[in-house]
Amino acid sequence: MSNITIAIDGYSSCGKSTIAKALAARLNYAYIDSGAMYRCVTLFCMRKGLIKKKKFIAEEIIACLPEIHLSFQFNPFTKTSETYMNGENVEKEIRSMEIAENVSKISTIKEVREHMVAIQREFGVNKGVVMDGRDIGSHVFPDAELKLFMTADIETRVNRRLDELNSKGEHVEFDEVKQNLQQRDYDDTRRKESPLTRAKDAIVLDNTDLSKEEQLEYVIKLINDSLLTRD
Ligand code: DC
Repeated sequence: MSNITIAIDGYSSCGKSTIAKALAARLNYAYIDSGAMYRCVTLFCMRKGLIKKKKFIAEEIIACLPEIHLSFQFNPFTKTSETYMNGENVEKEIRSMEIAENVSKISTIKEVREHMVAIQREFGVNKGVVMDGRDIGSHVFPDAELKLFMTADIETRVNRRLDELNSKGEHVEFDEVKQNLQQRDYDDTRRKESPLTRAKDAIVLDNTDLSKEEQLEYVIKLINDSLLTRD
């Protein structure tokens, strides 16, 4: 069975990374979290003091790009791929609310997107990759063999995000998370450069009422069916 490219897009906190990780583990594929890459750019620039009160000068952010080296390494203990920036494991730090509040705006910068997309295409050059994000099926890998567009109702998404933050010891109110998710969805769908959009050939997966196992089995069936018709 030849390796394929799986592109997963959708709104914030829809469970994209959960299904992407499960698929990568099942198929023995690489998992690339493209959102983590935009989060790293945001973290790097925040540490340099280039983002203050959600304000920044785009040229200063662009000038930093060559200094940011990103990689993903599989952690055998957590059994998941983790994000490294310039050799440092930043997996936990990039998930904070502070990063979440700035990342969508940073990801609107055209040059930042071009830089990230070039790296993402390199990661996927040999196929056998599951990548999640906002523009993967529509822009990064328009020829991906399987494209999913994930969605879930807003209350479910807020609760999932709250659970994730709480499990990391960050205590945030429901309304703050809800507002952040809605703002990010707004920014992501309305930006000029490759906005979040459903690729015409993407399959919509609303996982509001689906368990992780149900989603995984559904997608594995999609893959098997599509391979049967292709081979
Ligand atoms: O998937 P995430 O929540 O970690 O993504 C963080 C932000 O990065 C998201 O608000 C929009 C941006 N992003 C993007 O513009 N394009 C992608 N392919 C992935 C993420």
